[in-house]
Amino acid sequence: MSRKDDRNMRTTLVHAGSRRSHYNEMSEAIFLTQGFAYDSAEQAEARFIEAGDDEFIYARYGNPTVRMFEERVAALEGTEDAFATASGMAAVNAALFSMLRAGDHVVSARALFGSCLYILEEVLGRYGVRVTFVDGADLGAWRAAIRPDTRAVFLETISNPTLEIIDIRAVAGIARAAGAVVIVDNVFATPVFQRSGDLGADVIIYSATKHIDGQGRCLGGVVCGSRDYIRKTFEPYIKHTGGALSPFNAWVMLKGMETLDLRCRAQAASALAIARGLQGHGKLARVIYPHLEDHPQYALARRQMEMGGTVLSLELKGGQAEAFRLLNALGIFRISNNLGDAKSIVTHPATTTHQRLTEAQRAALGITPGLVRVSVGLEDTDDLIADLLAGLAAV
Ligand SMILES: Cc1ncc(COP(=O)(O)O)c(C=O)c1O
Repeated sequence: MSRKDDRNMRTTLVHAGSRRSHYNEMSEAIFLTQGFAYDSAEQAEARFIEAGDDEFIYARYGNPTVRMFEERVAALEGTEDAFATASGMAAVNAALFSMLRAGDHVVSARALFGSCLYILEEVLGRYGVRVTFVDGADLGAWRAAIRPDTRAVFLETISNPTLEIIDIRAVAGIARAAGAVVIVDNVFATPVFQRSGDLGADVIIYSATKHIDGQGRCLGGVVCGSRDYIRKTFEPYIKHTGGALSPFNAWVMLKGMETLDLRCRAQAASALAIARGLQGHGKLARVIYPHLEDHPQYALARRQMEMGGTVLSLELKGGQAEAFRLLNALGIFRISNNLGDAKSIVTHPATTTHQRLTEAQRAALGITPGLVRVSVGLEDTDDLIADLLAGLAAV
């Protein structure tokens, strides 16, 4: 995929996509407007036939502040284009529904965020789309499942919450041979540590609610891909189905992007230090972090991701009771369910984000009653380690 902006990442994050009004403002303007007036009826007609790059019609179709955000993400991701959505799930939903038809076949990794699983497992089938689920780490399973009529493959590049890594280059190779589109939810890996497009993904999705905002304020999402895909497949669907990002939220995301690289690197460095600090702790059966040497896919994680991400998972030996005691004993970490936030967060997936699954489904995904997901924020690393050690002592 061609890189749209060959500046270094931090410069791209601060400047790409900026559009200034005649006031020459420094900070990006918020165009909080649903519509745009035309100078004449002829101009309105022409714009509805084909809007130019800096011409807008209605905020559900596009808006200058939203466009700045989309162009900044596309430049960061190295894709030709991007389209912003109201949330990460609006992005996942529209990426799938905009391209699939009854009779199509999809292959998906089984280890998915609960709402993604809901769309693939419960909703697509109602419209005649058949979905085969595979163990994402098993390349043989992808090979066996992808058929000549497979239209798309879907995967999370690091699974939530067991942090399993999928070899995107290998899966993309198998998918491409069958002519299937590779759709990747890159939320956990972040655009800072992994450019999935360079690894072979065709469509890359983010919940901007996570690291891109990074301060727990707004919902948002974005889909990145070729200009042809975004304009001919994604845009016609999303603009008529209403999942538009609000201009205010786009502005928050633009501001978030300015510090994205700094935040992700600081949070990932802390996450690794915490993972190392807790490894071998007597109350823990496992510490899961992609850049810990004992991660089952350590070599792949090092190859695919520059840093190990901002999330780790812990498995308490004493099951749910001990996991709850840990959560309740923490002082800095808050019990919540976002991730990528400046504030550190702990989540008990089995009773919250993955509650909807049956016990057997959770067991198959490794989501045990003792599993705790830890999203590492921007607080002092030593304070975070001390908080977790004190919490574990109270277990
Ligand atoms: C992997 C993954 N994909 C998608 C989403 C959905 O994002 P949003 O909450 O912005 O709709 C989440 C949210 O937790 C997620 O973790």
